[in-house]
Amino acid sequence: MKGIMWHLVVSIICVVAIVGSAEDPYRFFTWNITYGDISPLGVPQQGILINGQFPGPDIYSVTNDNIIINVFNNLPEPFLLSWNGIQQRKNSFEDGVFGTTCPIPPGKNFTYKMQMKDQIGSFYYFPSLAFHKAAGGFGGFRILSRPGIPVPFPEPAGDITVLIGDWYKTNHKVLQSILDKGKMLMSPDGILINGRGSNDSRFTVEPGKTYRLRISNVGIRDSLNFRIEGHSMKLVEVEGTHTMQTTITSLDVHVGQSYSVLVTADQPPQDYYIAVSTRFSTKLLTTTAVLHYTNSAKPVSGPPPPGPTDLPFSLNQARSIRTNLTASGPRPNPQGSYHYGKINVTRTIILASTAGIVNGKQRYAVNGISFIPPDTPMKLADYFNISGVFRVGSISDNPPLGNGINLDTSVMGADYRAFVEIVFENRENIVQSWHLDGYAFFLVGMDGGTWTSDSRKQYNLVDAVSRSTTQVYPNSWTAVYVALDNVGMWNIRSEYWARQYLGQQYYLRVYTPVKSVRDEYPIPSNALLCGRAQGIKKKHPLLITNTLTF
Ligand SMILES: *[C@@H]1O[C@H](CO)[C@@H](O)[C@H](O)[C@H]1NC(C)=O
Ligand SMILES: *[C@@H]1O[C@H](CO)[C@@H](O)[C@H](O)[C@H]1NC(C)=O
Ligand SMILES: *[C@@H]1O[C@H](CO)[C@@H](O)[C@H](O)[C@H]1NC(C)=O
Ligand SMILES: *[C@@H]1O[C@H](CO)[C@@H](O)[C@H](O)[C@H]1NC(C)=O
Ligand SMILES: *[C@@H]1O[C@H](CO)[C@@H](O)[C@H](O)[C@H]1NC(C)=O
Ligand SMILES: *[C@@H]1O[C@H](CO)[C@@H](O)[C@H](O)[C@H]1NC(C)=O
Repeated sequence: MKGIMWHLVVSIICVVAIVGSAEDPYRFFTWNITYGDISPLGVPQQGILINGQFPGPDIYSVTNDNIIINVFNNLPEPFLLSWNGIQQRKNSFEDGVFGTTCPIPPGKNFTYKMQMKDQIGSFYYFPSLAFHKAAGGFGGFRILSRPGIPVPFPEPAGDITVLIGDWYKTNHKVLQSILDKGKMLMSPDGILINGRGSNDSRFTVEPGKTYRLRISNVGIRDSLNFRIEGHSMKLVEVEGTHTMQTTITSLDVHVGQSYSVLVTADQPPQDYYIAVSTRFSTKLLTTTAVLHYTNSAKPVSGPPPPGPTDLPFSLNQARSIRTNLTASGPRPNPQGSYHYGKINVTRTIILASTAGIVNGKQRYAVNGISFIPPDTPMKLADYFNISGVFRVGSISDNPPLGNGINLDTSVMGADYRAFVEIVFENRENIVQSWHLDGYAFFLVGMDGGTWTSDSRKQYNLVDAVSRSTTQVYPNSWTAVYVALDNVGMWNIRSEYWARQYLGQQYYLRVYTPVKSVRDEYPIPSNALLCGRAQGIKKKHPLLITNTLTF
């Protein structure tokens, strides 16, 4: 865990087995989840380790690979991993959030079986239960293009995961108990870069060479600005979309988001600061890492470069990120051949988030409903026809008139193959970040003020990026288009983790009455059963054996 160097980070951790030539390759991982001592901010604390590592190992994969991860939970409590941005086509059972997947009991294991179907890009995984995310258990997850499918820039000399995120010195269970008591969380204590505090990570580069950095904000709350002293960066990819390559000097990465930039070691040979600092936060936190030239003549010194402080910088940068329509995506045909701007919207969903007190406790809501998890994952209740777990329509397409908040297990119904417009309204004074599982959406617009149908006139209907996490600026709106072509139960959540924990999330049930494995896979043969789904195997022995063999 000491001295993370680029060549170490890129070493392959998994065993690769090719099963048959016609079939897509399999990659197998065995992960041991434990608690262990870490002290990223100089104070010893309890962290969640994967095979002894904090952060966890990177997952390397190629489009269409099958990824088989056997997760052994050696924590004294239930545990689940989820996969931010991995679409789990037809397979929400593997999504690893409580609405779809039973927790792995302490001392037990569960094998995730997922296919990287038609995806490329930079993502990450994280622990989805309790407040585990504040203890670690996260790591990078990349999907490379298949051989022969062109990537719109030369092969970099190195391809490096850079996980940035805010961090608390307080134990995650203490943080969770603050939230359970209905209190707000205090501000984070610092920022980590690949699990380490200031000056503690070192990235070694050879002069003249170009490196790809895959930057993900795996934190709990704060938007972060990323920059490298004396160097510009070329933005090339956003959550699976190759972008029009633009040169930037700093990049705002909102919580839950992932970006790839290219950096060339083209400056005089010395060490440079990599600086990451909070944005839109009352407390300005900054942490640094070191970009070290192999022939460096001088260590870093003095203060790190300051970041931007204004909001327009961020909004303008966000709006300038466009899809490169001539670049290949997961398939060789250019992504531009899919004209999302010419499809008729069949439904508009307006989501407004609120904060308020319910029964004397702090809660967060979307469209007036603060989500409470049921005793049984909704996906399993749906599959086994267990009634009384959730009600489709328990959250509506529009914000309520008042600011009242109700508690419910909120599930919104949607038709398979509908083409939907979702508008995120932010009436609060903070930056929000929203994520949709199971999909990438086209980010067609964002602006200040209140969204009206007139706002559609400024939508980008030509080359908006397709991604799965978007920020919503204070007192502003963000609009996305999404083709609901993935049947399942999909979490839509605030990536601001205290808000997610206290109810700012719900599930979108993308449904078709036709039961066919062409549209959705059956429940995996190894699925854990819990709550009211427990014991159902005995009652319906044939149900579970009729499954796909992976
Ligand atoms: C996981 O790690 C713990 C602690 O190091 C060890 O006791 C246990 O045997 C490991 N389990 C597996 C499956 O490797
Ligand atoms: C637990 O691991 C064993 C192999 O050690 C595997 O056969 C079994 O399927 C795993 N359990 C689940 C629920 O995936
Ligand atoms: C990082 O190192 C530089 C140069 O040695 C020093 O000036 C700076 O104070 C250090 N920062 C921290 C937070 O340790
Ligand atoms: C767009 O992608 C093409 C590859 O198809 C590449 O040649 C071109 O440089 C890219 N343009 C920009 C602005 O990124
Ligand atoms: C969209 O709607 C318009 C007006 O109702 C109709 O003329 C057009 O054919 C529709 N386009 C598609 C692609 O369905
Ligand atoms: C659930 O109900 C549907 C429709 O009534 C039926 O087609 C399906 O077989 C049932 N599933 C189970 C697991 O009983």
